[in-house]
Amino acid sequence: MLKIENLKYIANDEEILKGIDFEFKKGKFYVITGHNGAGKSSLAKCLMGLYKCSGKVYLNDIDITDKSVDERAKLGMGFAFQQPVTFKGVRVIDLLKISDKPLKTYEDILLKVGLQPQEYLFREINNTLSGGELKRLELASVLSRDIKVGIFDEPEAGIDLWSFNNLSNVFTEFKNSERTTIVISHQERVMALADEIIVMKEGKILTSGAKEEILPLLNV
Ligand SMILES: Nc1ncnc2c1ncn2[C@@H]1O[C@H](COP(=O)(O)OP(=O)(O)OP(=O)(O)O)[C@@H](O)[C@H]1O
Ligand SMILES: [Mg+2]
Repeated sequence: MLKIENLKYIANDEEILKGIDFEFKKGKFYVITGHNGAGKSSLAKCLMGLYKCSGKVYLNDIDITDKSVDERAKLGMGFAFQQPVTFKGVRVIDLLKISDKPLKTYEDILLKVGLQPQEYLFREINNTLSGGELKRLELASVLSRDIKVGIFDEPEAGIDLWSFNNLSNVFTEFKNSERTTIVISHQERVMALADEIIVMKEGKILTSGAKEEILPLLNV
């Protein structure tokens, strides 16, 4: 479904991703894990077209290597940042409206990520929002679109336990759908949802396989 071949990313003359080959299959739930600096976020950004990489990326056999983020989004890819960006002058409703859905749906989406619609729908997405609130809005923006592939970079980071329970429900819903889900995570509960776990180390895939096979190696 989403296939990468010899994917390399170079920054400041340093090879950050050292030639990665992998195929994400339709409808499967993948968790990418590994130490800080292993290259997880870089890989996610290359998949989404946020970083310019060498190698090839195919989405349903279409070569998307040279396609922009916008084009990849139109083809059904969604991405939630590890560190969400703020948008001066843009309100939550404006962000969600990109998906062209009825208001009721936006309210439901906000409730799903544990935010009260009446409190947040018309708030500006700026740095008066807490880190956890921004993370939840980031997730809401992906959930508001009919995506085929969702890429989530450490969605649990900065999320309190209560919200994390909500978050688990969101990901369970993804798991039970046709969508292909790629989540970067260190969380045992997220890993427990995985059909496959990918362990990265020093810009490469160290190992990957079914969670039954990989989890014992991680000592979680
Ligand atoms: N644009 C860039 N310029 C310079 N170095 C970069 C750039 N992007 C990534 N790196 C470096 O590449 C390495 C991998 O970074 P990346 O963010 O992909 O790691 P990660 O596995 O997501 O780590 P974490 O678990 O801390 O989020 C790091 O050493 C980082 O400093
Ligand atoms: Mg990262």
